[in-house]
Amino acid sequence: MPQALYSKWRPRRWESVIGQDHIVQTLRNAVTSDRIVHAYLFAGPRGTGKTTTARLLAKAVNCLDDDLTKRPCDKCEHCQALTSGRFLDLIEIDAASNTSVDDVRDLREKINFSPNLGKYKVYVIDEVHMLSTAAFNALLKTLEEPPAHAIFILATTEVHKIPATVLSRCQRHEFRRIPVTDIVANLEELADKEQLQVSTEALDLIARQSTGSLRDAISLLDQLSSTGKTIDLELAQTILGTATSQAVIEVIDSLLTGDPGVGLDHIHKALDSGSDVRQFTRQIVDYLRSLLLIQIGEVNPSNVTPEMEAQLKDQAKKINTPDLIRVIRLFNQAANQSRATWQPGLPLEVAFIEACQTLADPNPQTAPASPVSSGRPTPTAQKKQPPAEILSSTVREGDVNQETPSPGDDQLSSNLNQNWPHVLGAVRKEHPNLYGLLNSCQSRHLAGSVLVLGYASDILKNQMTKRDNVEIIQQVVSQVLGTEIAVRCVITTAKNNDIPTEVDDDGMVASALRDMGGEIVDIQ
Ligand SMILES: Nc1ncnc2c1ncn2[C@@H]1O[C@H](COP(=O)(O)OP(=O)(O)OP(=O)(O)O)[C@@H](O)[C@H]1O
Ligand SMILES: [Mg+2]
Ligand SMILES: [Zn+2]
Repeated sequence: MPQALYSKWRPRRWESVIGQDHIVQTLRNAVTSDRIVHAYLFAGPRGTGKTTTARLLAKAVNCLDDDLTKRPCDKCEHCQALTSGRFLDLIEIDAASNTSVDDVRDLREKINFSPNLGKYKVYVIDEVHMLSTAAFNALLKTLEEPPAHAIFILATTEVHKIPATVLSRCQRHEFRRIPVTDIVANLEELADKEQLQVSTEALDLIARQSTGSLRDAISLLDQLSSTGKTIDLELAQTILGTATSQAVIEVIDSLLTGDPGVGLDHIHKALDSGSDVRQFTRQIVDYLRSLLLIQIGEVNPSNVTPEMEAQLKDQAKKINTPDLIRVIRLFNQAANQSRATWQPGLPLEVAFIEACQTLADPNPQTAPASPVSSGRPTPTAQKKQPPAEILSSTVREGDVNQETPSPGDDQLSSNLNQNWPHVLGAVRKEHPNLYGLLNSCQSRHLAGSVLVLGYASDILKNQMTKRDNVEIIQQVVSQVLGTEIAVRCVITTAKNNDIPTEVDDDGMVASALRDMGGEIVDIQ
């Protein structure tokens, strides 16, 4: 098997380490001025240069070049032995597989022997956070009184797991994630040396995918180059699984046209056919990001193929920038959540429905924190006022609220609130399309034995009012609550247009107001 690209190109001199200037500078100064300490801690994300830097330091302190500023020279006997892994005074220990106290004791005995060849014996303990407590204590003793010829370099991705007593004995260096532009530049150089045909867009995608880890970036490039083809954006997208699937485009479309049921359907189909939910969610975020870039005037975002561009431009016109940003945040949260939940698709579904609501709601600053409010709407929680025609033919929610609840209603009402998640669950399971619709109601409450669902738009309300839909919800709710419940849908209005106290709640006028969309013109 050929050597992996990343180990083939592991930096051999300080100059080749990228993105960690602050650390390299300090260590170089220490070498030049011969102020080496005996214990270092290198902390930071994976693949950012900890092991690389540890080896360079080991090399520098043992290099034979007369000019201290040139160490490591990468030419002398010691440097060469180190590069090829033959240098006996560099001891690398993987704490992940040597966690016991015996391992550390063993190390403590060996440490008293002087170096074989070099000036210093360098111990690199990788993944040091994996040591047991007893092993840490044994290590601590060594760190308290290290022999003059020993240098310890502890490396970890999880610095919070290192005991404070150990931390306080070490000079600590924090490695940073490497910026995308630096990764791209490094990959370009590497591709050049390896004579790989790669497009900048593809490198950009690789760099983004590797989230600051240069090792990951180089590995991805390695993987792509093994196809033997020219690495362009399309190939990179296909192999890295970031090609925007048609399903993503459909989901965004239904979001922009306000069709939650259809969107959820596409999501479920994609997941049912084996798409990874996190990957799928990330694709949505990526796609929305491209929309945003196009909207704010970036002519050709790097992850967009020419074919996608026209479509993106078209969609970008259908949503305003603040809304788009809100929607991106929602999906981004979901992309970071999906791993841990018992129902992996849930964060994506919730994000989608919330996004639909965000777009249906023209006044997000005053919107309630929870999309479904259980009680009567307060003036601030109220939604867009529908046009007059709709008002006159539709019952307003404020009206229905006026029905005087009996004590039994209260009981039923809290029963409903408690059981609402079960209602949603049951609907979701049997009628996934309807679930989105049900979940996008702005308010719900019981008026007697009638469940009143308030919708912010007449499109949603009309969809829900279709006969089958109402019947299904009636059945589910009745079953969950154990009593016969009817369902009615209303438009939630901005006006709190109460039934006046003069009007008898059960009478004809109230019924006209409530059920037939009547309006009171004058009271005599
Ligand atoms: N800062 C960097 N400069 C140059 N190359 C780097 C850098 N970081 C990583 N690399 C490349 O990635 C490879 C792996 O890096 P290294 O082993 O130093 O990472 P690490 O921080 O020790 O990661 P881990 O926490 O997984 O052990 C190197 O061989 C090198 O090719
Ligand atoms: Mg390492
Ligand atoms: Zn040297």
